[in-house]
Amino acid sequence: MENLSAAFLSLSREERSLLSAIESGMKTHQWVPSFVISEISGLPARKVDFLLGELFEKKLVERESLHYLGYRIDFDAYDLLALSDLVKKGALNAIGERIGVGKESVVYEAFGEMPLALKFHRQGRTSFKHVRRLRDHLSDKSKVPWLYAASLAARHEHQIMEKLCQKVSIPKPVALSRHVLAMEFVSGPSLNRISLSDPGDGLDLILEEVAAALRLGIIHADLSEFNIMVPESGPKIIDWPQAVEINHPHAQELLQRDLANVLSFFKRKYGIEMPVENALQRMGGSERI
Ligand SMILES: Nc1ncnc2c1ncn2[C@@H]1O[C@H](COP(=O)(O)OP(=O)(O)O)[C@@H](O)[C@H]1O
Ligand SMILES: [Mg+2]
Repeated sequence: MENLSAAFLSLSREERSLLSAIESGMKTHQWVPSFVISEISGLPARKVDFLLGELFEKKLVERESLHYLGYRIDFDAYDLLALSDLVKKGALNAIGERIGVGKESVVYEAFGEMPLALKFHRQGRTSFKHVRRLRDHLSDKSKVPWLYAASLAARHEHQIMEKLCQKVSIPKPVALSRHVLAMEFVSGPSLNRISLSDPGDGLDLILEEVAAALRLGIIHADLSEFNIMVPESGPKIIDWPQAVEINHPHAQELLQRDLANVLSFFKRKYGIEMPVENALQRMGGSERI
């Protein structure tokens, strides 16, 4: 979306309730008929048809002519529904600039009681790798629609962060709606973008955080210099949707890969050599899984 906050502000209450009615209708219809939208929203049919026309113009709904006119919503509308929910929950009162476009997300700066980062998950849209992995968390493994995959990833990331945040240096998770996770804003560059004055100490601090997560039974599984932020207060690890528990069949391998990524970065950039086995020993974690 070109301008998220403008789109959000220009959405009327009725338009929002139609989007939300389509969202509900999509549980049972691939394309939701307008009479169903009218029933769910409680708005009269003619008003609904008019508003749907406007939402279509704004590209917030998609339309398909079957033997009836059916509607569905895409990420843009889900973004707005999640935002309005977060506002309603009191988690959020302003949206700022886009601060990151990652592999599988778009991140905005925002404000609530504290500065926030709003992470809009995009899993289903960008790759099916994580969708496959996320299926492990589903009881019904038959089908994962792409939008559902993004919500699932956000929920998983939120759960993991809730579990870790007391003992591991990560941004504090603040609220969740659908595929959008609000968390504490970390002000500082990522590890790849700075030059550490004491890289040996930096590496130790990072390994301590990996060990702290491991003590809680969690392995990041996508750790690299891009997912470690370095504010003044010391490293914070971000980007947890693919985290696994230590009883995962590939836990050992994933932990070793995480460590290898970090260690090869420190070797490349700072000439610090540490074999993965040494790092594991230092962390006292190898025998844990
Ligand atoms: N809590 C945060 N505070 C500040 N910036 C963040 C925060 N979380 C993410 N970002 C920014 O957004 C980018 C993408 O977020 P990330 O969680 O790594 O998702 P992805 O899976 O898309 O890589 C990060 O590289 C970082 O620049
Ligand atoms: Mg990332």
